[in-house]
Amino acid sequence: MWRLLTQFRVSRAIGVAAELGIPKFLARHPHTLAQLAADTGAHEPSLLRLLHLLVAVGVLSEDESGRFALTDLGDELREENLGPLARFFVSHHEWAAWGRLDHSIKTGGRAFDLVYGMRTWEFYSEHPAEAAVFDAAMQALTRPVAEGVATSYDFGTIETVVDVGGGDGTMLIGVLRHHPTVRGILFDRPHVIERARARLEEAGLAERVELVAGSFFEEVPAGAGAYHMKSILHDWEDHEAVAILKRCREAATADGARLLVVERLLSERIGPDDLDSLLSDLNMLALPGGRERTEAEFGGLFEQAGFELRRTIPIGPLFHILEATPI
Ligand SMILES: C[S@@+](CC[C@H](N)C(=O)[O-])C[C@H]1O[C@@H](n2cnc3c(N)ncnc32)[C@H](O)[C@@H]1O
Repeated sequence: MWRLLTQFRVSRAIGVAAELGIPKFLARHPHTLAQLAADTGAHEPSLLRLLHLLVAVGVLSEDESGRFALTDLGDELREENLGPLARFFVSHHEWAAWGRLDHSIKTGGRAFDLVYGMRTWEFYSEHPAEAAVFDAAMQALTRPVAEGVATSYDFGTIETVVDVGGGDGTMLIGVLRHHPTVRGILFDRPHVIERARARLEEAGLAERVELVAGSFFEEVPAGAGAYHMKSILHDWEDHEAVAILKRCREAATADGARLLVVERLLSERIGPDDLDSLLSDLNMLALPGGRERTEAEFGGLFEQAGFELRRTIPIGPLFHILEATPI
C-alpha cells in the first residue's frame, strides 16, 4: 500500500527527468552529475537527489566514479520509445486535472474544465506548446498501433480511408506506407490539420492524403470506402459518441463502406488485465469527459447510429479494431 500511495511521486520524478532531457543526454554516453547539470541547466545538488531516486527505482545506474547511465528500463524513456508519453503524463495540464479527480468522482464533471474553465480540445487550440506535447504523446502511442492496423486488416479493396479525428497523421502514414494503392483523407480541427501537413510532407505522402478541416459533430467527408477512428469515441460520452457515429453513417454512402473503430476494450468482468484501460477510463472522465467501453457497449452505440458490429480484431496488447458496416 505504501508503494501504491507514493507511486505518484515516482511518476513525477521520472517525468521531470524526461522534461529535462536526461534520457536524451544519457543515451549518448554516461554523464557525471556536473555534466548533466551543465546540459540540463538544473540546480546541481537538487539534480543529484532526483538522480538518486531514479537509481533507487532502477531507471538509472551510477558507477563507482559517479557516472550515471540509463538502465534497460531507463532506455524506454528515449525519444523513440516512451519519452513523449513521460512528458505528457507529467505535463502541468494533465497533472493539474488529475489533482482534481475528486471533483469528477463526486460530481461526474470534468476536472479539467474545473481547473482550466474550458474543454481539452479548446485548450489545445489555444495553447500550442501543450498541444505539441499532446501530439507527441499520441504519436508515440499510435505509431505501433498503426503498424498493427496496417498489417492485421485487409485494405485490399479500399480506395480511400478517412481518418476521422486523425490527429497528426501517424495512423494514415502507417497504413499508406503498407498499402501503396490506398489514398487517405485526414480529417481534424483546423489547427491540428496545419500541424499534420509538415509530417505528411516529411513522410513523402502529402500527395496521397487530402487534408480536410472541420468538426465531426457537423459533417465528415462523404463517399469513402472506410471511416477509421482511433481513440476518438473514448473521448466522448455516449450521446456525443453516437452523434459522431451518425455523421460517419451519413458519409458512408459508397457500396461496401465500413467503419473501423480502434479502441481499447474493457472486459465484461473486470480483471487485472484491465488495469491500463481502467486508468485510461478515469483519465477520460477527468479530462475530455469520455469513457472506455466493452465490446457490447460499442455494439450498442453503433446500432444507435445505423451501423452493425461485424467483428473485433485484436491489435497488440491494448487495442482492437471494431469493424462495422451500415445497416
Ligand atoms: C485522442 S486524439 C486521437 C488522434 C488520433 N486519432 C490518434 O489516435 O493518434 C483525438 C483527436 O480528435 C480531434 N478532435 C477533437 N474534437 C474534434 C472535432 N469536433 N472534430 C474533429 N476532430 C476533433 C482532436 O483534435 C484529436 O486530434
